[in-house]
Amino acid sequence: MKTLPIVFAAFASLPAWADEARLTGPLLPAYKTECGSCHTPFPPGLLNPGDWKKTMAGLDQHFGTDAALDAKTAGQIGAWLQQHAGRTMGRSPDPEPRLTTTRWFVREHREVPARAWQDPRVKNAANCAACHKGADQGQFGERELSIPGYGRRHDD
Ligand code: HEC
Ligand code: HEC
Repeated sequence: MKTLPIVFAAFASLPAWADEARLTGPLLPAYKTECGSCHTPFPPGLLNPGDWKKTMAGLDQHFGTDAALDAKTAGQIGAWLQQHAGRTMGRSPDPEPRLTTTRWFVREHREVPARAWQDPRVKNAANCAACHKGADQGQFGERELSIPGYGRRHDD
């Protein structure tokens, strides 16, 4: 934990492609199907390896739902998440890890007006697709961005 600010400072000075590299890349089909059925298949790089491990270990009691998988599928998805996890991503402060509460996420979203988070079309920060129109395809670029009540950031 002590080294966290240094990691973040270094990270902030990296060129944009460093962010891109952690977000793009094809999603494992099983991940997209199984972990994208109730919500956005979140980019694996937005949680660190330990947090993904915790998530995968608690699927039978997953945020009040049962998201348990057969051992083979769970093993496949778990291994893929470990491979693509964000190695410099800070830990989520929640007992059930949330990528939406990591320092990286909060910082990346600091310009989002408080009112936008409460818009009924958003409701929840985990509802990525409310603003990121390409979220289900793993697209989080500015061109696909549209905040409910605020419109598109770029008209094209
Ligand atoms: C049966 C539905 C369901 C399935 C299947 C499911 N989830 Fe979830 N997941 C939820 C719910 C409900 C929440 C909590 C949403 C909220 O209230 O913020 C959640 C939240 C999460 C969060 C935290 C999001 C945040 O707020 O930052 C992560 C990470 C996550 N799920 C990962 C997974 C992974 C990985 C899989 C596949 C192995 C999966 N989920 C499959 C229902 C599901
Ligand atoms: C209320 C609207 C809203 C929601 C919901 C939202 N975002 Fe964002 N997101 C934004 C805005 C605005 C930015 C900042 C864009 C900028 O400043 O360039 C952003 C930036 C990002 C970026 C950085 C993109 C880049 O190219 O630098 C990523 C990655 C991202 N969001 C992922 C997510 C994920 C994953 C979720 C769901 C767990 C989510 N967002 C939910 C509005 C939202």
